[in-house]
Formats: sequence, structure tokens, C-alpha cells
Amino acid sequence: MTTEHVHDEHYWDNFYAEKDQIWSGRPNAALVHEVAGLTPGTALDLGCGEGADAIWLAGQGWTVTAVDISAVALERAARHAEQAGVADRIDWQQHELGKSFPDGQYDLVSAQFLHSVTELPREAILRTASRAVAPGGVLLIEGHLGFPPGEENPHPEIHFPSPAEVIEDLELAEGEWEVLVSREHGREQIDRTGKLIHRRDSTVKLRRLPS
Ligand SMILES: C[S@@+](CC[C@H](N)C(=O)[O-])C[C@H]1O[C@@H](n2cnc3c(N)ncnc32)[C@H](O)[C@@H]1O
Repeated sequence: MTTEHVHDEHYWDNFYAEKDQIWSGRPNAALVHEVAGLTPGTALDLGCGEGADAIWLAGQGWTVTAVDISAVALERAARHAEQAGVADRIDWQQHELGKSFPDGQYDLVSAQFLHSVTELPREAILRTASRAVAPGGVLLIEGHLGFPPGEENPHPEIHFPSPAEVIEDLELAEGEWEVLVSREHGREQIDRTGKLIHRRDSTVKLRRLPS
């Protein structure tokens, strides 16, 4: 285990240990919207946090592998899955993505707000994610387009890519993918102080063409 590894894992463990619950407990609206029309199969959730997306997917009939760097988040997520009665449909795996990645190919690979103030090789991880999409499957990447408005940006070095940049950085093989969605959109969110804020996000949804 390298020093960098300890640092990133500890950062996120401390982040989650700060409170009993960090996120809303609801699945991301973009995920619900974009997955609604898909036939359930196998799904991979990258950076699953407290597990709301994975639990929602399992409830929709997907067999889910859910990954996070934080053991604190994964333990909490597994507890929520037990309470929701879907524990048998979710395999929780701890990975520091960029250093290790789950085996296999999936009908859906989802990365919802896979951002970090620690060093995160996001483009490389998403390229690996694209290779984990089974032929005919979908890659769904939701990202922020900036820090919450009104908040001082403590990390100006973090780049929030446009949908076009996300697609370009994937370096996809020509003729093997269909772009289903590539858009920027607004969203309302309750921030950590309970205030309603408006954010700009990006959605990229791609289908790997059947071979
Ligand atoms: C902004 S949160 C998003 C959580 C969740 N997807 C959501 O939408 O609520 C980013 C998540 O990525 C995880 N993460 C950060 N770096 C990671 C890495 N290198 N490997 C795996 N997970 C990581 C964090 O622990 C955190 O749960």
C-alpha cells in the first residue's frame, strides 16, 4: 500500500465518518431518468458512496457490483441494502479505481459524480470503465460542471469537463459506440447547510454497439 493510497482512502473515510449520513439517500435523478428505459441486467456503479444508486438499481432488477474507495461508505451502503431487502443483488467491492478495477463486463456501467479533491485519474478510470461495458451495453457518466455556486472554490486545479471533453477523453474505437446523450443541464440541490442551490451538470450516455 503506497502513501498516496492511504491518503486518498483516509480522506474519503474521514469524509464519510464525519456524519451518519452524507448524501440524501435517494438515487441520482439523472441515473433514474437515463436507466428507466433499459432492460435490467448486470450493472457496475463506480464511486457508489452510500449506495443509493446501487440499491435503486437492485430494486429495479439489476444485479449490481458497486465500488468505492471508502470502507466506511461501503459498510453503510451494505447496511442500507439489507434494510431495503436487496442485499443479495449487490456485490460491494472496495477499490481505489486507477489502481484496481472489478473484473468482468456489464450491461450498464455508471459513474455518478466520480469527482475527488484528492488526486483522481478520472479520464483513465473512465477509459477502463468503457472497456468494462459489454457489447450492447450502456456507459453512463454524470458529472458536475463546477463547484456549488457561492462556495469559494478551494481546488481551482480541478477541471470539470464538458460532455464533449468526456467523450473525447474516452478515446473510443471508431464505429463501436453510439452517442445517446451528450448534454449540459441545470439541477436544483439542497446543499449541506440545507440551502436550495442551482448546479450545472453534464450527462454522457453511450451505447457500445453489439459485436
Ligand atoms: C462526489 S462522491 C459521489 C458519490 C455517489 N456516486 C453519489 O452520486 O452520491 C465521489 C465518490 O467517489 C469515491 N471515490 C473517490 N475516489 C475514488 C477512487 N479512486 N476509487 C473509488 N472510489 C473513489 C468517494 O469515496 C465518493 O464516494
